[in-house]
Amino acid sequence: MAEGSLVGAGIGLRLPHVQEILAAGDTDIPWFEVLVDNWLVEGGLNKKMLLAISERYPLVFHSVGLSLGGLTPLDFNYLKQIKALKKETGALWYSEHASFSGNAELKVPDLLPLPYTQEAVTHLSQRISQVQEFMGERMLLENVSTYLSCQFNEMTEGEFIAAVAQEADCYLLLDINNAHVTAHNLEQDIQAFMNSIPVERVKQIHLAGFHDKGDFLLDAHNHPVDKQVWQVFEHFIRRNGAIPSMIEWDSDLPPLERLLQERKIAADILTSATMGAHTPSVSRALVCG
Ligand SMILES: [Fe+2]
Repeated sequence: MAEGSLVGAGIGLRLPHVQEILAAGDTDIPWFEVLVDNWLVEGGLNKKMLLAISERYPLVFHSVGLSLGGLTPLDFNYLKQIKALKKETGALWYSEHASFSGNAELKVPDLLPLPYTQEAVTHLSQRISQVQEFMGERMLLENVSTYLSCQFNEMTEGEFIAAVAQEADCYLLLDINNAHVTAHNLEQDIQAFMNSIPVERVKQIHLAGFHDKGDFLLDAHNHPVDKQVWQVFEHFIRRNGAIPSMIEWDSDLPPLERLLQERKIAADILTSATMGAHTPSVSRALVCG
């Protein structure tokens, strides 16, 4: 079973910020998420820096390369590398997406949604069980952004995620920006999705910014967190209590200082929920975002 616990709001560790974080000595960042695909090269400067970060801060691992819901066999060599680095850094848990990335003939660098069918629930659950058995602990499953709905769906996305989590007995990584992007693009009710998520399984939350393309939202991780995403986050946290949450910012990466302003908004919302305060933290989000 996944061990350890985190508190507060972290950020995704991005290479351009690492030297600054190490040079800063103590910071008020409680933990980092590592996009492990960027750090799997054996040896080298990057690995040394990651180990230096791991000596000072708790880490959690996240990957995008497993094609967890795909039909091709799971890549256990990839998982072996993740498992070894996880052990070396003491990272607390590992997460992947409820998606697939092509097939045996064509791999795509994207996180494609699965059809929400009972067959897919069984397929994805079995694959998660394989990963959990190999890793020796429970993993976290993340909801992805979608742009089209599948005509073969037998259930909602929320029902699908809940069914998979139940069948695989895994944890969840709830990405509220992904939920917002999907709800907007498919003209769905985000609260219906949020209400169907089994909160007792949610071990981590992702917050990020999207790119408004006019007729749809693109999950680009290149903007501050949107006002509506902050509102959904605050509502969820006030209702369910503080859950470790973090900012994902990948493209058009801002200076660390700007990223930390965004982190502070999440941290304040988590703190106010813990203290039962009624201060509307989203007003601060509007100032900073
Ligand atoms: Fe995410």
